[in-house]
Amino acid sequence: MIKSLLWVMIVCLFTLSTSQADEKKLNIVFIPKSSDQVYWTFMRKGVDDALKEQKNIELTWRGPSYNDDTDAQIQILRAYSHTGVDAIIIAPTDKSRLINPINEASAQGIKMIIVDSAVDTANYQTFVTTDNYSSGQIAAKHLSQLLHNKGNVVLFRIVAGSASTDDRAEGFLEYLHTHAPDIKIIADVNGGGSRGKALHSATELLQKTNHIDAIFAVNESATDGVLRALRNEKLSGKIKLIGFDASDYLLAALDSNEIDALILQSPRQMGYLSIKAALAALHHTQAYPKTVFTEVRLVTKANYHTPEIQKFIMGN
Ligand code: BDR
Repeated sequence: MIKSLLWVMIVCLFTLSTSQADEKKLNIVFIPKSSDQVYWTFMRKGVDDALKEQKNIELTWRGPSYNDDTDAQIQILRAYSHTGVDAIIIAPTDKSRLINPINEASAQGIKMIIVDSAVDTANYQTFVTTDNYSSGQIAAKHLSQLLHNKGNVVLFRIVAGSASTDDRAEGFLEYLHTHAPDIKIIADVNGGGSRGKALHSATELLQKTNHIDAIFAVNESATDGVLRALRNEKLSGKIKLIGFDASDYLLAALDSNEIDALILQSPRQMGYLSIKAALAALHHTQAYPKTVFTEVRLVTKANYHTPEIQKFIMGN
């Protein structure tokens, strides 16, 4: 009799605690990589989509200005690593330098969700990301087709330590090494973590490097800077350009034949799923996978205006 009463009390307490967790205001902090790229506004849209479905979330959105402003991102993470914060979702700007701050936040019982760019620790609940390595391979395969497997190529990165973009670069290099050995990488550069730095680096590179047949730029700010430099040097459309991510500026260059292809990610989906992963961790209701991959699309002038790609751009 007493045993069954105890069980009833335990079940009631658990139900109460779960429902309280459902009702209790949850403080979730979202720390993107930067605030100068359209990419993150799409991710924010996905976060807002999830917040519409779950009313008891108090969301704080706070990130550094640029992809390479790791000191600022660490400061922000540490500022929010305190009791009262239930979960932190972060896109680490540096896969090594964010290890300790993420471990420290996790050690305080804060549920950690990684989004978009990897970090070299396992102290998080879920990682929501593009498969960046295979995305780099997709870019390389398309580029080798454009060049008929022969030519001089520049690999234009952003900043050392950025896992997402370096994984793309590694996938790109591996594909060419394996499948297109006559395509030569004549420059492999870190162009900087902002559009302005990328413009400056790309301009210098174009002015001192001859016989470039194609450039692969690993993300929105890099692609933006390279395109602006090509235009300034009157080389746009003459040098093949494959880039990443979707801003109006970049997408319009597909139609003008100044960008040959863009690899589009699903930032809106990543934002939505990162909130869902945080809720799953907070409610202990369901085991969320350790890694969740979201979709990519290779977009060219030929398919950009198709309903499928238009739907992908708006919905992801
Ligand atoms: C994209 O490139 C990287 O800076 C981020 O990881 C994101 O995937 C933003 O343009």
